Amino acid sequence: MKEKLDKKVRRIDTDIDKLRIKIKDSNSLKLEENVFDEPTLKNLYKLSRKDFIKELGGSISTGKEANVFYATGPEKELAIKIYRITTSTFKAMDPYITKDPRFTNIRHTRRDIVFAWTQKESQNLKRAISAGVRAPEPITTEKNILIMEFLGENEVPYPQLKNITLEEEDAKRIFEIIVEYMRLLLTKANLVHADLSEYNIIIDPNTLEPIIIDMGQSVTLEHPNAREFLYRDVQNILRYFSRYGIKMSPEELLSKIQAK
Ligand SMILES: Nc1ncnc2c1ncn2[C@@H]1O[C@H](COP(=O)(O)OP(=O)(O)OP(=O)(O)O)[C@@H](O)[C@H]1O
Ligand SMILES: [Mg+2]
Repeated sequence: MKEKLDKKVRRIDTDIDKLRIKIKDSNSLKLEENVFDEPTLKNLYKLSRKDFIKELGGSISTGKEANVFYATGPEKELAIKIYRITTSTFKAMDPYITKDPRFTNIRHTRRDIVFAWTQKESQNLKRAISAGVRAPEPITTEKNILIMEFLGENEVPYPQLKNITLEEEDAKRIFEIIVEYMRLLLTKANLVHADLSEYNIIIDPNTLEPIIIDMGQSVTLEHPNAREFLYRDVQNILRYFSRYGIKMSPEELLSKIQAK
């Protein structure tokens, strides 16, 4: 078994060499080797040839559907989110995407759904930013790969909200900004995040400002479950911030978010 795995890893290493993508930390890639199937490697190579990626770095996160890696571009640090095609919980994606009117004519094979999902995340991030929400700027997509602005400095990613402890005063200010972002998303971008929680909010440590991430599952208000997703987001946010003394009913928060 081990031998087989070693062989597989070696083969991937050779492929990477062949593709001439510079790898900063090949050990972390070995752990993540199931992400780098052959088509993904080819697409990474394509992106490096087009000069989007200069150097691929270590793993930032291994999630249920995607892996996020650090990389450098010609000018800036990058985050590269790679949706897994074979091991992703792709069934969970289906209702979010097949009921979205923007994606009605995509084929429903696993690959096609993952590719559409990647594009959807990029489009949703753009719409959020245009509405005035702070989110990582999407740079480009290639099949199941999304390249975006790196939220962090000198290879160190900024923390998730769930991993920091705040002064009550700062927590209240962050809460207000999140409420305003939810309002802008809904009223200006016509979007419901649909997975908003302390996991998908990053805190810029310089300004203690929130940044919203992970918008692959976000839907427009036309989606049949949009209201239900919005209510869930509202409950998640209120549950998290109650520890900082913020008490509000879901209905009150909803009315704030819906105000034009
Ligand atoms: N642009 C970025 N810059 C820096 N770190 C990032 C960026 N995007 C994502 N991350 C980090 O990677 C983690 C996972 O990203 P994201 O939430 O988008 O993926 P995910 O697939 O939802 O993960 P999961 O499957 O666990 O829900 C984030 O919590 C964050 O810590
Ligand atoms: Mg996430």
